[in-house]
Amino acid sequence: MERYRDIIPDWKAFWQAIHTPLPTVIRTNTLRISPEALRGRLQAKGFSLSPLSWEETCFQVEGDIPIGNTLEHWLGYYYVQEASQLLPVTALGPRPGERILDLCAAPGGKATQIAQYMEDQGMLVANEPSPKRLRALLANLYRLGVKCAVVTECPGERFPGEGEYDRVLVDAPCSGEGTARRHPHLRGGAPLGLIRRLAALQRRLLSRALRARPPRRHRGLLHLYPGPGGERRGGTGRPRSEAGRAGPLDPAGAPRPRPFPLRSGRVWGGDGENGAGLPAPLRLGRRVHCRPQTRL
Ligand SMILES: C[S@@+](CC[C@H](N)C(=O)[O-])C[C@H]1O[C@@H](n2cnc3c(N)ncnc32)[C@H](O)[C@@H]1O
Repeated sequence: MERYRDIIPDWKAFWQAIHTPLPTVIRTNTLRISPEALRGRLQAKGFSLSPLSWEETCFQVEGDIPIGNTLEHWLGYYYVQEASQLLPVTALGPRPGERILDLCAAPGGKATQIAQYMEDQGMLVANEPSPKRLRALLANLYRLGVKCAVVTECPGERFPGEGEYDRVLVDAPCSGEGTARRHPHLRGGAPLGLIRRLAALQRRLLSRALRARPPRRHRGLLHLYPGPGGERRGGTGRPRSEAGRAGPLDPAGAPRPRPFPLRSGRVWGGDGENGAGLPAPLRLGRRVHCRPQTRL
């Protein structure tokens, strides 16, 4: 993690934050139950639930038994999901009746959340190339009772079709460093070779995803971490983004999609590197992350 020192203003606070245990958060599956009814059922079993200040369908939970071991979990009344993991679908803003592609969908946390936003109306294509992870995706879609989803098994960068989707989510495979609070072995940082390979794949996935939207609406929200693609320059340990290093998204010279910044009333965090060094189409991309002061 040392290589991020230059871009994190308060390193001590950051280091403390990644050593602080994560609260358990659940998302009500509103396709099956209301937040109030779920809260009543779990409180009757001895759990204590506090709603998140910014997402009333989700609760921070404390209890003596694991939250995955209840009948309500098996009945698909909720999904255990980190609070920060709720943000991408909130940003995507799916609506009922739309056609939505989730290019990297397993195990289905965000796919099932998308289905909720869609009120189970329209078509959600949930894609996942790993057969093993596909099983978890299917299990979660069944458990939560999602009917609007079609599941496909395809490497995302080769996903067929052009301009067919209203919205596309790319929750690309990554180094996992962002989960260091949950996985202590990642606090030392992921190997740079892995990060570079993943960054290259992420660019191919983004390129594919942006072309899955209609030509006149080629826009997208990019979620850029400095980590993937971060590399040491001149031994200073200063990272820069893969997008900045590697040039345009589409090497074949196809029309470039225009990313746009997310506009929301919330504190989403800054753009980290201020777009410096990024190719023009990417300058409006924004890094989205929970800040230490984000209240659960
Ligand atoms: C960060 S996880 C997705 C988590 C999921 N969106 C959720 O919310 O539960 C990334 C997923 O991308 C999948 N993946 C790996 N290589 C891929 C590729 N070439 N195309 C599409 N997905 C890929 C991984 O198997 C993994 O399931």
